[in-house]
Order: sequence, then structure tokens, then C-alpha cells
Amino acid sequence: MVTIGRPDQVRAVLEDPGFIVPPAQAGGENVDVGWVRARVSRFANGEEHRQRRALVTELLAGVPARALRDDAFDRTRRRASDVIFDLARTVPTDVLAAALGVEVSAADVGAVARVYHPHVEADRAGDEAAARLVEACGGPADERAAARVALFVQARDATASLIENAAGVMLRTSPRPDPAAVIDRVLLDEPPVRATRRLDGTAVLVLDLARAQRESGQLFTFGAGHRACPGQPHARAIAHGVLDALRQR
Ligand code: HEM
Repeated sequence: MVTIGRPDQVRAVLEDPGFIVPPAQAGGENVDVGWVRARVSRFANGEEHRQRRALVTELLAGVPARALRDDAFDRTRRRASDVIFDLARTVPTDVLAAALGVEVSAADVGAVARVYHPHVEADRAGDEAAARLVEACGGPADERAAARVALFVQARDATASLIENAAGVMLRTSPRPDPAAVIDRVLLDEPPVRATRRLDGTAVLVLDLARAQRESGQLFTFGAGHRACPGQPHARAIAHGVLDALRQR
């Protein structure tokens, strides 16, 4: 395993399709974490990646960031719980589910997110949650079901970390700062995604996004190039809605 952290090198690798993502195993007929990994854009390369990414970007295009922000605001205001940890792990899922017109459990999304990456071993809780999520998102026959599941899972941990860290800054600062400014600051200072992987032949390259960001002052936590996060405006909008509601507490 080789780690790359120089900003120019990290960017060059991210932008070069010759460095592929470590692909998922084929996966069987059973609908479980392996089934999901084998059908999402995140662990596919080449033409397969392009087609699946088109499905997720199409879904996201139907979900206006402004509506997500307003809904995140309303849901946070209505919530009795003050526990930021819980808000950060439920509001994003609930807002996306409402926007996509499906009903999914935030706990199931969390259980899949924990074992989503192919270098982590799947477990029974993740497999069972994956089956329920796929069913809730349209069922296994539907290619778009996998794309919806991908959105929920991809949106989970990084957005939760952004909300938690930004809420910490917001609640420590007086007078309460502008949420957009806090989000910009926190994305740079406490990158929610700190690293990602590529293959150079058979060698695994770890791209140290946190270091590239620290050394360049540019945002690397959303990736770059043809695989850059398509959910960046959505993540920012959801976090903004939550922070706005917390600001008024
Ligand atoms: C602060 C929050 C987020 C961060 C930091 C983040 C970061 C990233 C990064 C770094 C990648 C690319 C990984 C790589 O190139 O190896 C990625 C991919 C992706 N993200 Fe995000 N993400 C966030 C939130 C979201 C949200 C809210 C959504 C959906 C609503 C989303 C959907 C996706 C999808 C679908 C991909 C795969 C794209 C592809 O296969 O080409 N992300 N994200």
C-alpha cells in the first residue's frame, strides 16, 4: 500500500481514469451487502461506472438542494432530541427519503454504511439491512434501486460528520455565525472524507485527501475529476438546514 498526499499528485491520480477504484467482487444472487457493492457506481470502472453514475446524477438532479435545506430545517426544528449525534445520523436519511419518495430506516442505512467498502468485511447486520434497503428502494430487479441505495449510503457518514463538526463550531461561537461560512470552514479544517483508494496495476494507492487539503488550502474531501462526489450541493444544503435550525435554539 502506497500513500500519496502531495496535492498535485493526488489531483493527477483522481483525474486520470487509468487509476481505477478497487472493484467489488461480482456478488451472488442473494440481496446483501455484496449485491449492493456489485451494482453501485462507487466500485465500478469504465463504461459501467459511467452508466451507473448517470443514474445517480439523474436521481440527484430531481432533488433540488433548496428543498433539501428547507426540509432539513423543518425536521430539525420539529425534533424533540437535542442530541446532535442522532440528528446528524437521521435527518439526512429522512430528508433524502422524502425527496425520493421512499421509506427507509436510518438504522439500516447506518448498518450498510459501516461495511459498504470492499476492503471491509460484511457482517450479518449489514447484509440483512441491505436486503431491507433494496426492497424499500424498489426491489432487486430495478437497477435504479441500487442507485437509490447508493445515495443513502454515500450520504450517510460524511454528512453526519460534517453536521456534527459544524454544529460544534456553531454552538461554541457567539454571536452565532452564518451556517454557510461554518460549513466552508469545517469542510476544510475537518475533512469528513480523509482518504480514498485507487489501484496502480495491482498496488493499492491510498490518496490522503486530508493532507492534500491541508497543504493546498483547496477542497479535496469531495474528490475530483470524473468520480468527484455528485452530492456536494446536497450535503451542503442538508447541513445548512440543520445548522439554521440549531442556530435558532
Ligand atoms: C460532506 C459530505 C460528503 C463528502 C465529504 C463526500 C465525499 C465523496 C467522495 C470523496 C467521493 C469520491 C470517492 C472517490 O473518488 O474515490 C464521493 C462519491 C460519491 N458521493 Fe459523496 N460525499 C458527501 C456526501 C454525499 C451525499 C449527501 C451524497 C448523495 C446525496 C453523495 C453521493 C455520492 C455518490 C453517489 C458518489 C459516487 C460517485 C461515483 O461513483 O462516481 N455524497 N463522495
